[in-house]
Amino acid sequence: MRIIHAKDYADMSRKAANIISAQVILKPDCVLGLATGSTPIGAYEQLIKWYEKGDVDFAEVSTYNLDEYRGLGHDDPQSYHYFMNKNFFHGINIDLANTHVPDGANPDADAACAEYDRMVEAAGYPDLQLLGIGNNGHIGFNEPDSVFSKGTHCVDLTESTIQANSRLFESIDDVPRQAYTMGVQTIMRARSILVVANGPKKAQAVYDMCFGPVTPACPASILQLHTNCTVVADEEALALCH
Ligand code: PGA
Repeated sequence: MRIIHAKDYADMSRKAANIISAQVILKPDCVLGLATGSTPIGAYEQLIKWYEKGDVDFAEVSTYNLDEYRGLGHDDPQSYHYFMNKNFFHGINIDLANTHVPDGANPDADAACAEYDRMVEAAGYPDLQLLGIGNNGHIGFNEPDSVFSKGTHCVDLTESTIQANSRLFESIDDVPRQAYTMGVQTIMRARSILVVANGPKKAQAVYDMCFGPVTPACPASILQLHTNCTVVADEEALALCH
């Protein structure tokens, strides 16, 4: 695991965007695994700026997002599909047909998850997987558990995740209680992984991810076993790692 220290959120975002854009420059038809949440937004904004300057070209890139709320259609403003269009895809020249998010609108969880696994496998798994980390150490919506999950599956969100995500909804009652998420095993199949984290609320999770025991009680801790994982975090998120 490679840990890159960033001064603050802007610095973290630029460094993460540099790594993503290097991937796209080196392999223009690469597969990117992408993440939602507040943390990657700055990196997406930076990539849009570099695209506008002509420095990076997404025409041949395809993407697979980690997760989607169960029950939300693509056009629902709270869906992760909508988030990706708004915060990234509409700002770059990616072919929207090559962007993929689990189908939250499909109520048949088994079918929706199996179909997503088939698509990610057929794409050959991501060259680079971008990840945020939850305050409780989750990656995607893989919450602390007694085992590491495998493929895409339906999860019940924990109370702490519902609380954390409620800031993006009008009321906590509006936060969906379930989601479809890529499993830990799928995430580990990416050829490289980039974790972004900022702020003091992430300090314990970042410490556990980098230096704690490898345990499904902190799903991100398994990334210690990945051969090409980079963490870009700001000083506050790295506060316990000195
Ligand atoms: P955040 O979420 O970027 O909104 O903090 C991270 C995550 O839960 O994976």
